[in-house]
Amino acid sequence: MEFGAVMVLDEFSLDVGQGEFMTILGASGSGKSTLLGIISGLRQPTRGRILLDGADITGAPANRRNIGLVFQSYALFPTMNVFDNVAFPLKVRRRGRDEITREVGRALSLVRLDSYGARRIAELSGGQQQRVALARALVFNPSVLLLDEPLGALDRKLRQEVQGEIRDLQRQVGITTLLVTHDQEEALSLSDRIAIVNAGRLEQVGSPSELYSRPATAYVADFFGSSNIVTGRLHEEGGLRFLDDRGVRFLCEAAANGADAGERALSLRPESIRLDIEPAAHGVAAVVDQAIYLGTAVRYRLVLDNGRQLVAVVPSDQQQHPPATRVWLRWRPGDIWLIPQKPGSGNTAASGGASR
Ligand SMILES: Nc1ncnc2c1ncn2[C@@H]1O[C@H](COP(=O)(O)OP(=O)(O)O)[C@@H](O)[C@H]1O
Ligand SMILES: [Mg+2]
Repeated sequence: MEFGAVMVLDEFSLDVGQGEFMTILGASGSGKSTLLGIISGLRQPTRGRILLDGADITGAPANRRNIGLVFQSYALFPTMNVFDNVAFPLKVRRRGRDEITREVGRALSLVRLDSYGARRIAELSGGQQQRVALARALVFNPSVLLLDEPLGALDRKLRQEVQGEIRDLQRQVGITTLLVTHDQEEALSLSDRIAIVNAGRLEQVGSPSELYSRPATAYVADFFGSSNIVTGRLHEEGGLRFLDDRGVRFLCEAAANGADAGERALSLRPESIRLDIEPAAHGVAAVVDQAIYLGTAVRYRLVLDNGRQLVAVVPSDQQQHPPATRVWLRWRPGDIWLIPQKPGSGNTAASGGASR
């Protein structure tokens, strides 16, 4: 997809399964809304195809695609009541009065607004308005539901509430759903699979746990927040495998073969690091720079002898270490994830991309 000379989506191929809840996760400006616009027919792609149930709908007008849409701004008709808002897609499709009454009732009941038909939009809370928008998107039994940052305008508590409702509703109706968001927590909690988009390109597609524990790129590891990413030279010694970061050696799981030695990046989750006062075999020395009590855990900022900072999150029932304490860091080698992509290659955040 190009806007003038600017490439906004490129080499983008994504399959969404029947009944699946797929989330497109990416920073602002990464091309998420453009993608939904192309799928819904509000925008025409420069190249490429959109298939729905096997049929090519790339040239089909938006109102023929049988796709339900919900945006961040509710885009409800303020002068109509709730019933008429939800009835609108059915009226456009010239359905009969009885069918409209029945289907609107069913959609409102799905979003638990049964008795709200006569209410004016202005009389509803933000969360209720978004539920009306959801009912309007579902009332004509679309094959796909597209949600573009639908909870962005809601405050945190309400957002979590509506998140739960969307998930329940999606399971109940079994509708194939594509959600767009920049909120990784939202993506992790709602999705069957997540597609991470960075500057108009797909970084990785996978289940929440796959992306969290086995990120394919440094961008993905970084996007899921607070992972320690260390670059260095991978090598084997005495049957063990290490990543050497300017004199500090990170013990990794032994390789099946030595073929992948060289410059690599690893990701080490903060909760995988353990802190000890006593030196440990293959441990890494560090000084506590900051210790923040989080309730169930303590988050440490640690400085290694080579100056690199790491973050560790340790359950607060374990021994605590005040700033300036010298500690030893340990982890299970299996907790180190070697990022498949070599640093500096491909479409990482650092290499930018053609879209901005
Ligand atoms: N109609 C347009 N004309 C030119 N550039 C556009 C247009 N719409 C979006 N863009 C640009 O395309 C990029 C992706 O935008 P968008 O899909 O809205 O991102 P997101 O939804 O991920 O925040 C941005 O750089 C944006 O400025
Ligand atoms: Mg957007």
